[in-house]
Amino acid sequence: MRKKIVAANWKMNKTQVEAAAFISTLLLEIGDMADVEVVILPPFTAIAKVNEALGNSQNIKVGAQNMHWERSGAFTGEISSTMLRDLFCRYVVLGHSERRTLFGETDEIINRKVRAAHEATLRPILCVGETLDQRERGNVEKILALQLRGSLANLGTKELQETVIAYEPVWAIGTGRTATAAQAQEAHAFIRHTLSKIADDATADKIRIQYGGSVKPDNAHELMEQPDIDGALVGGASLDARSFAGIVKAALPND
Ligand code: PGA
Repeated sequence: MRKKIVAANWKMNKTQVEAAAFISTLLLEIGDMADVEVVILPPFTAIAKVNEALGNSQNIKVGAQNMHWERSGAFTGEISSTMLRDLFCRYVVLGHSERRTLFGETDEIINRKVRAAHEATLRPILCVGETLDQRERGNVEKILALQLRGSLANLGTKELQETVIAYEPVWAIGTGRTATAAQAQEAHAFIRHTLSKIADDATADKIRIQYGGSVKPDNAHELMEQPDIDGALVGGASLDARSFAGIVKAALPND
C-alpha cells in the first residue's frame, strides 16, 4: 500500500510570521497525523521558521520548491542541496511547470537536479504535465513519456522508488479548472505504465504519484480515491491552513 502524500506548495508567498501562524493552525486542525504524509514547501526564507513552529511533529515534513544541482560554488542567487539538508529539508520540488516555462528549465537540467537531490538524500517531487495545446493535439502521453524519461534518466531502482511524481496538467494550475477524476486517473495510469518501462512493475508499483492543479477540499477526495492517485500537490488552496487541512483529511484511508 502506498501511503498518501499531500504537499503544500506555497510558491512565492508567506513571510516568516505568516508561515508560523499557518503551522499553529494546521497543528490544531490535523495534529501529528500518521496516516498521511504531509509536506510543507515554503519559500526558502520561511523554511527555518516552519521547522521551529513544527516543534516535535514527526509526520509533517518540510521541503523546498527548487534547488541548484551543484553543492556549492559561484552561482549567485542559487541554493544547494547541502543548504537544504542543513535546514532539515526532506523533499524538494523539481521541474515545476513554472520553473519550466518562466525560468527555462529543460528535462536535462531537471535530471541533473533530481540526481543531485538523491545524492544528498533529499527526495525529489518531480512535476510533469502537458499544456492545453498539447492535450488538444492528442499529445498527452507523448509529452509525459518524454518528461519522465528525460528527468529520470540514469537513476537506480532505489532512487526511483524514493522519487515522488506530481502529475500537474499545466492548464489546471491556478486556473480553477481541475482535471476530472477520470482524466487524472488515465494520466496517472499512463505514468505508472511508463515507470514500469523505465524500471520494472514492482518498482513502478511503489512510486507515489500526486495530482496537482486546482485541488480544493471539495474535489480532493474524489481525485485521491482513484487507484493511481497517491496524494496531492496543492498550490492556491494550501495558503489557508484550514483549507489545506481539509485536503489532508480527504486523503485519509476510507475505513
Ligand atoms: P494550484 O497549484 O493548486 O494553485 O493549481 C498547484 C501547483 O502549481 O503545484
